[in-house]
Amino acid sequence: MEESNTNVAEAALTALNDLKNEIEDTALDSTQAADDYRIRFLSRKQGQITALLKRIPDVAPEDRKEFGQQINAAKARVEARLEEAASALSGGAAAGAAPSDLTLPGRTLPQGSLHPITQAQRLITKVFESYGFEVAEGPEIEDDWHNFSALNFPPDHPARDMQDTFFIEEPENSDDGILLRTHTSPVQIRVMENREPPIRVIVPGRVYRNEAISYKSYCLFHQVEGLYVDEGVTMADLKQILHAFARTLFGEDVVMRFRPSFFPFTEPSAEVDIWWQDDDLPGGGRWMEILGCGMVDPNVLEGVGIDSERYTGYAFGMGVERIAMLRYGIDDIRILYENDIRFLEQFS
Ligand code: PHE
Repeated sequence: MEESNTNVAEAALTALNDLKNEIEDTALDSTQAADDYRIRFLSRKQGQITALLKRIPDVAPEDRKEFGQQINAAKARVEARLEEAASALSGGAAAGAAPSDLTLPGRTLPQGSLHPITQAQRLITKVFESYGFEVAEGPEIEDDWHNFSALNFPPDHPARDMQDTFFIEEPENSDDGILLRTHTSPVQIRVMENREPPIRVIVPGRVYRNEAISYKSYCLFHQVEGLYVDEGVTMADLKQILHAFARTLFGEDVVMRFRPSFFPFTEPSAEVDIWWQDDDLPGGGRWMEILGCGMVDPNVLEGVGIDSERYTGYAFGMGVERIAMLRYGIDDIRILYENDIRFLEQFS
């Protein structure tokens, strides 16, 4: 009896030692291995820790306390190894790697930024809003009437060829096509059709032209249109506001010129150029055209039911890309449409 009790106790101690070895020696190199390990040792029903706890009565009474403590220590080891394996497997600090340095600064996430065209367009809009202009918008898919006829481009008039048009529906009679607007000026018509003077609006938007692509023109670009119709509006008002605008955007010493020009919907008409300083160019720079402008032709006012004896107005339309290029020192419009991250990152 004595003898068999001793044997049973010895068997329990051997089982404890085997268990400790297995706990240390099992590889935990996959999630599956870690799961199996947990079940094998910690499962409350079939786990080996539970099995060993059941053998406490086999051990001599004076050894039971020590036996129980060792089982608890073994259980703690299982838990510790599982925790280590979990962090190693989830890509955290690899086993044995130095602990994290909590005093290091955090990693900054890359931050996006607005495209330089958007930035320039918003800036232009903001400047004119500060002069009392309201923002208006119109559709990019236009009818011939708003894009051409109402702006005093007669059917078959060669002036229509000034703006190479992308048609959505080719015209059947010379002036009933549907097209991608070639400028923001049709929004002048849409605003005047719906409102009485005084009208003072600024119209940012995208426009399309079927043009040869080069360093200075692209098949799609952006314009900001301005329109002011009221009693007594003159060419002097137009020159004054464009001067103020150019000084705000390019500095007090900006060099600009008004050059007589032609648009069917303005009379007289002008184009405004800004001097682009570049010592590498012959002559030390070149003139960059940034906008077309003029006094709204009385025909256009009458066409939308505004009394041209009582009211006059000015209009201008500027190229946003040209302005972005001047402001940011870009010499090729195409780079604005390439989405090269190395270029765009410079505008954050
Ligand atoms: N719409 C003209 C263009 O795109 C520019 C312009 C606008 C000219 C308003 C005069 C008045 O070329």
